[in-house]
Amino acid sequence: LKRGLSTSTAMNAVIKNVTVIGGGLMGSGIAQVAAQTGHNVTLVEVNADLVKKAEESISKSLVRVAKKLHKDNSEAATKFVNESQARIKGSTDIPNAVKDSDLVVEAIVENLEMKHKLFKNLDEVAPPKTMFASNTSSLSIGEIASVTKRKDKFGGLHFFNPVPVMKLLEVVRIAETSDETYQAFMAWGKAIGKTCVTCKDTPGFIVNRLLVPYMAEAVRMMERGDASPRDIDTAMKLGAGYPMGPIELSDYVGHDTSLSIVEGWHKKFPDNPLFVPNESVKKLVEQKKLGVKTGEGFYKYN
Ligand code: CAA
Ligand code: NAD
Repeated sequence: LKRGLSTSTAMNAVIKNVTVIGGGLMGSGIAQVAAQTGHNVTLVEVNADLVKKAEESISKSLVRVAKKLHKDNSEAATKFVNESQARIKGSTDIPNAVKDSDLVVEAIVENLEMKHKLFKNLDEVAPPKTMFASNTSSLSIGEIASVTKRKDKFGGLHFFNPVPVMKLLEVVRIAETSDETYQAFMAWGKAIGKTCVTCKDTPGFIVNRLLVPYMAEAVRMMERGDASPRDIDTAMKLGAGYPMGPIELSDYVGHDTSLSIVEGWHKKFPDNPLFVPNESVKKLVEQKKLGVKTGEGFYKYN
């Protein structure tokens, strides 16, 4: 974790003003890491209540980060929280939120039509210099970018949950992404304290192409009765060194999110057995047992 941009980095950086659209689980984390590393952030939500909700969740997370960064110095911890918060402006007004923006990171719901509608509008109102990125988990960046006239300034910036903790950033290039845009994305990833990997615009990029079928295989193992969920989780934590087992991880990611990923891929690639949706996940989603965020998934949470 970095405390702020060094003066020389800040002066040379192409990306200083960042607009994050969508202040849910991911967008609030992205806004937070950008602000805590010295960027000016505008966070856009659909209404004032959701802006407030995002700001509250950012405050809580900043306090956790500050405790770690400034263990024995409560004054420095408070300063870190206050200064980071002060760099984030909430907004519900897209034209105003992008007028000085160097980079827009989209983190709204995983729905192609909604992303198209948003980017079409953004392309009309954002200045020509503004670069666009999507944080999509599973959709094609090229398909999302297709509605804009600035495909050279378009790419994927895929973060991981929880954003303030996970160190990876996947930088996705499409054929039209210019070298300048790609370099600016890589430099920004480093400036916000992440390690970047370069991905092609293939389903799931690197992590989700491996992680989503792995979680689905674990659920299939449980469905066959080959092992209990607890034993599957214990086995992968202690036998393969994962911080969470695959069943608890699927509760953590959210069953609505993973089901929409798998269903989208299954529709596009019906012959791939790894992309067949799990029956027990479908049932959980019908029952609104979406995982940690609703208090119950395969496990119960208080
Ligand atoms: N904000 C700030 N800090 C946080 C935080 C948050 N939201 N969540 C956790 N932390 C911090 C804690 O304060 C704690 O700090 P200390 O080490 O100083 O105590 C540290 O992270 C560890 O947290 P916990 O002690 O609460 O719990 P843990 O050790 O079990 O770690 C975890 C929690 C980091 C989530 C860990 O279990 C983990 O890495 N799990 C796997 C997560 C994962 O695989 N994520 C990717 C999902 S896939 C995805 O995101 C892509 C997609 O498109 C779907
Ligand atoms: P979420 O449901 O928590 O948040 C989405 C937010 O976007 C909501 O608060 C909603 O009000 C807001 N929103 C919707 N339309 C909007 C608009 N037009 N303008 C402004 N705000 C709008 O979802 P999330 O989990 O944060 O996921 C967001 C994106 O990130 C998705 O594309 C998802 O696939 C991707 N992603 C999710 C994860 C994950 O683990 N959940 C990880 C990486 C990437």
